[in-house]
Amino acid sequence: MTQRVALITGAARGIGAAVAARLARDGWRTVVADRDPAPEAPHRAVQADVADEAAVAALLAGVRAQEGRLDGLVCNAGFMIRKPLRDLTLVEWNSVLATNLTSSFLLVRAAEAMLREAKGAVVTMASTRAHMSEADTESYSASKGGLLALTHALAVSLGPDVRVNAVSPGWIATKGPEPTAEEHAFHPAGRVGRAEDIAGLVAWLLGPEAGFVTGAEFLSDGGVSAKMIYPE
Ligand SMILES: NC(=O)c1ccc[n+]([C@@H]2O[C@H](COP(=O)([O-])OP(=O)(O)OC[C@H]3O[C@@H](n4cnc5c(N)ncnc54)[C@H](O)[C@@H]3O)[C@@H](O)[C@H]2O)c1
Repeated sequence: MTQRVALITGAARGIGAAVAARLARDGWRTVVADRDPAPEAPHRAVQADVADEAAVAALLAGVRAQEGRLDGLVCNAGFMIRKPLRDLTLVEWNSVLATNLTSSFLLVRAAEAMLREAKGAVVTMASTRAHMSEADTESYSASKGGLLALTHALAVSLGPDVRVNAVSPGWIATKGPEPTAEEHAFHPAGRVGRAEDIAGLVAWLLGPEAGFVTGAEFLSDGGVSAKMIYPE
């Protein structure tokens, strides 16, 4: 069988790195793209800013030239600016929207022909923050809400050739201090998430068992968004 090829963005660390590792283990040929240097082997690593139109065009031209096909695209790169509204500059707002939302438009547009040829699949990395917020997260929440809408729009436009779905993680421990026992226990699932939790879901969404799934959002948040919270 021909080896399937996946491109994973924001894969120098965190969720993206776990997704790339999982797909490589499952037998995919993996290309990882990040604005920071990412470890090579077993992947081909490309340093690229996915918010930059020319960089995205070059990235996909490279996949066409070197791998010759694209079966899976994981639009995972993203970041948050947490700042009171009054201090958030337009430059900062635009930078969050560019990486977290516009990059998926650029990536899928540049990858469309190869994805259609391969009857491939796309997974976008949204967030439970598309639906709920803490204070001072306007640009991030708006970007992830927009990404959900972009996901269903793409699913309709690219079907039946290409499936497009969103994963919305809750708290996944990828950086910062280790979660406390209390923080783990706050989750109905009994623990904070791991990058591997998300990788497993992405692997399933890219695979043939998800053939009837498109335009959908999958929450993986340990049950937090199902939990009703009132003051004690
Ligand atoms: N960790 C969580 O709790 C959580 C929860 C919900 C959603 N998410 C989403 O999952 C994704 C991955 O999160 P993470 O926790 O692994 O983050 P992370 O900060 O550990 O890793 C993100 C990676 O993306 C790269 N990146 C950022 N902007 C980029 C750009 N413009 N071009 C190329 N690469 C870029 C960074 O260099 C980094 O390697 C993000 O989209 C994030 O919003 C994370």
